[in-house]
Amino acid sequence: MALLSGVSGLERPVNKIQELLDYAKEKNPVDLASDEIYWAQYRKLYRLNPKHINLESGYYNILPEEILESYINHIREVNLQGAYYMRTAQIANREKATSQVAELMGCSTKELTLTRNTTESLDMIIGGYPWKSGDEAVMAEQDYPAMLDMFKMVGKRFGVKNKVVSLPLDPVSDDEILTLYANAITPKTKLLLISHVVNISGQVMPVKKICQMAHEKGVEVMVDGAHAVAQLIYTLPDLGCDYYGASLHKWLAVPLGVGILYVKKEKIAKIWPLIAEAEFPDEEFDIKRLSHLGTHPVHAHLAITHSIEFYKKMGPENKLARLRYLQNYWTSRVRNIPGVLMNTPKDSARTCAIANVGIKGMAAKDLAAKLVEKYRIYTVGIDNSNVHGCRITPNVFTSTAELNVLVQAIKEMAAA
Ligand SMILES: Cc1ncc(COP(=O)(O)O)c(C=O)c1O
Repeated sequence: MALLSGVSGLERPVNKIQELLDYAKEKNPVDLASDEIYWAQYRKLYRLNPKHINLESGYYNILPEEILESYINHIREVNLQGAYYMRTAQIANREKATSQVAELMGCSTKELTLTRNTTESLDMIIGGYPWKSGDEAVMAEQDYPAMLDMFKMVGKRFGVKNKVVSLPLDPVSDDEILTLYANAITPKTKLLLISHVVNISGQVMPVKKICQMAHEKGVEVMVDGAHAVAQLIYTLPDLGCDYYGASLHKWLAVPLGVGILYVKKEKIAKIWPLIAEAEFPDEEFDIKRLSHLGTHPVHAHLAITHSIEFYKKMGPENKLARLRYLQNYWTSRVRNIPGVLMNTPKDSARTCAIANVGIKGMAAKDLAAKLVEKYRIYTVGIDNSNVHGCRITPNVFTSTAELNVLVQAIKEMAAA
């Protein structure tokens, strides 16, 4: 393939993902994952801050230039049209974007709505669930704090008892995790929260099996999919959960402020909306009754189509294989070094891009500070439950050369 084979081809910047597609088509995802020439070209689709190595894509994914440009054009267009746009095209465009996301997630548009983020989606379910005093909910201490706080609030407000389990850092089997949750369930349990990907450690959870186990016991399952959309490959009906929330500004690279809420059709009527929606009566099986947003940045919705197109062109399998390759690239080089504490499972099927590493005797915040000050590597320090270390999240634009800097930094700090 001329684009990538000759020296002049390598030096020529590519501006469009389209130019890389033919090359990628000829390779399988595993071979492509370690093809540094291809990914170096891919990196050029982004404008990256040269001041530091960004290994904190777990917060949000910066946009490739072509999505960013389209988004800026949408901002200009909406601004030009003003209220006319809001009154004429806004709703139809939101519906179009919703149906594209629903198609990606393999569900009906009547079961999926756009929200502002995962927090809003899941807290709407926790807050709007028809709790009765004495009901129980199950969650893990490694779940996202915003959801745990919301459960604490409904505990106080409605008398719900929260049972909090602690996830092992390196489970030996799915059964170990299933047993942990199953043991926390009682006849009073109504709802179980699980993270699809645990944000502090990167552990990928056996969601489908947990849903099956919980359903057999008559318990509903709500999944925090903040890190799963456009990183892992799955459909919502196949997972079998009852409620699912995610942020599209993470791995799908939609502009900041767009999330999704999925509610299984037969569960929609029982949830109290966060903001009331007059047109949709309680008994109607349409998630529109949970969809009222008020005025919001509608141009972000217009960018969704570009982000989905970009993701599909890149190839979900290619993306996942590269992210796992990058994570394994650095973790395999430091995992067995004395003084290095890995907080992420070894088994690659239980991981994706995210991993967490600590240094014995060093506080996570000090590790993060040293990484940025001495090595120009931006990460985030985590000190939560059994996870003490820096969360390291590469992205498709991350090079192995950058990860070599990380590996060297960890080796030096572990030896000090
Ligand atoms: C697992 C998990 N859930 C929820 C959230 C919250 O996402 P947002 O701030 O987009 O609502 C995050 C953010 O990092 C997360 O990692």
